[in-house]
Amino acid sequence: MCGIVGYIGKRKAYPVLINGLKRLEYRGYDSAGVALLNDDNELNVYKTKGKVSDLEAYTEDKDVSGTVGIAHTRWATHGEPNTANAHPHISSSGNLAIIHNGIIENYATLKRRLMEKGVEFKSNTDTEVLIQLIEYIQSTKNLDLLTAVRMALHTVIGAYAIAVIDKRNPDQIIAARKSSPLVVGIGEDEFFLGSDASPIIEYTKKVIYLDDKDIAIIHRGEEVKVVDFYNEEMKHDVTEVALDLAQIEKGGYPHFMLKEIFEQPDCLMDCMSGRVNVEANNVVLSAVIDHREQLVNARRFIIVACGTSWHAAQIGKQLLEDICKVPCEVEYASEFRYRNPVINNTDVVIAISQSGETADTLAAVELAKEKGAFIYGICNAIGSSIPRATHTGSYIHVGPEIGVASTKAFTGQVTVLTMLALALGKERGTIDEQKYKDLIKELYDIPEKMKELLKQCDAIRDISQIFTYARNFLYLGRGYNYPVALEGALKLKEISYIHAEGYPAAEMKHGPIALIDEEMPVVVIATKNVLYEKVLSNIQEIKARRARVIALVNEGDETIKRMADMVIELPHTMECLEPLLATIPLQLLAYFIAVCKGKDVDQPRNLAKSVTVE
Ligand code: G6P
Repeated sequence: MCGIVGYIGKRKAYPVLINGLKRLEYRGYDSAGVALLNDDNELNVYKTKGKVSDLEAYTEDKDVSGTVGIAHTRWATHGEPNTANAHPHISSSGNLAIIHNGIIENYATLKRRLMEKGVEFKSNTDTEVLIQLIEYIQSTKNLDLLTAVRMALHTVIGAYAIAVIDKRNPDQIIAARKSSPLVVGIGEDEFFLGSDASPIIEYTKKVIYLDDKDIAIIHRGEEVKVVDFYNEEMKHDVTEVALDLAQIEKGGYPHFMLKEIFEQPDCLMDCMSGRVNVEANNVVLSAVIDHREQLVNARRFIIVACGTSWHAAQIGKQLLEDICKVPCEVEYASEFRYRNPVINNTDVVIAISQSGETADTLAAVELAKEKGAFIYGICNAIGSSIPRATHTGSYIHVGPEIGVASTKAFTGQVTVLTMLALALGKERGTIDEQKYKDLIKELYDIPEKMKELLKQCDAIRDISQIFTYARNFLYLGRGYNYPVALEGALKLKEISYIHAEGYPAAEMKHGPIALIDEEMPVVVIATKNVLYEKVLSNIQEIKARRARVIALVNEGDETIKRMADMVIELPHTMECLEPLLATIPLQLLAYFIAVCKGKDVDQPRNLAKSVTVE
């Protein structure tokens, strides 16, 4: 969702801002803009609908000088994606400019009041209301910018990360956050601002992660000062970001998504590193050591998540119930937060989020915390809001995920859930020694098996080319592979815009079978587990209706080879680990279909990588 970049220092601000916006493109956006203060303290604002490259083209013959500026990629919420609604927004006097990520919920009331006072608006956005409000407060009460911003933020309801500049005070950026991430980068005589650290790390690794209701005063030549809405100074540690530039670049791959699919074996090794020890035959998670009592004695797990993370949660449920014998419920965070759920202090709520910033998941965490549950987070983005809001947790350590469609984060989340179930199952005495040992070994071998599987990339590309005509797809799986079917369908939807649905295979007869004909490709995950024979019958039922079947089978399965139109072979593993392998070909299938259809794989239309608004 919206991306924020800011710069003040000794360099030309424009290239830093444009570069930063490109680093944030992955978040998803529909327009872009920049505001610069030139050496004559003139405020130049340029914005365009479309991509950052369109903004660059637009500014080719414009004055882009100056060493202070703010820039933004907008993902439309209030008002359609057009130039007027793009950020930055300027105040009526032309003195102030703002960029904003989030939603001002009471903007309509505020706008009406301001209009009654004679303020005129140029856009349909909630953001313009905020900058006009700041200016109104500043001019009517004759206040400095910081005080005006503080007072305005007391009046607004909603979620925001903002940055404001004032051409009468060109050596300063004021930034503030509530429920939307914001990071300040600290260089030598220069400062940076970002929605996350990715626009900053090529200049400095030193950052301050702002907390909710923090206001940062970033002044040229001075130390960054952080205050709360009441002007009380807030102390913040400067942290070192452990992120390399190479991690956020494509590294020779045509798309981030393909790079991230291929990174999975290494990512899972990183995820298991120091945690899974095959020789010592154990799984160690520091959270389970530090918070043994709360986690081991949990009477119920509730997993809250959105999107792909919710699919990982579905696998986690089965793992926790199978291995730990503790009931586990999975909830969409967006539903959980509003339905007044019954939560006890013996419940452990597990929040899964790649970005650690998803607004609904964060709100679900806060709610569960208020109701007395113990909260465990499974996140990827280090230092993001959800890990900071939880009691404990485990990072998945798969590195930055840039492609909007989640791939390596999913397998990382499933890996952490497997380790969690193993560590707790051992402590609870609900898993027998041999199964524990076998699972550890098998889990450790998964990255090697993934590498083998990835060698089928070309074959999967060939299969994909056959199906670009399809308008609908069905994905079927059972048990542990049912969430894999959901995830496979989601990947296809997200990036190729083909309608796809995932179903538990046996449910096919209760509806989806009515849709099956020769036009409908059906992907069936049919590995040799306890439900194999039943899935075999499903394939026969599909073939009887002349649909084309793409089957994911175990190596050497001749029976399904004879029945299905195409097969993709998976290495053998234990049933509960099958999702870690079966997901890979489905990611590749979606990727290649989308590429064949000429779609923007890394930045699919309307989608955002990190959904920081409701
Ligand atoms: C967005 C992304 C998905 C992601 C979901 C949840 O919809 O496009 O890829 O699965 O948010 O995000 P989270 O960061 O909480 O895992």
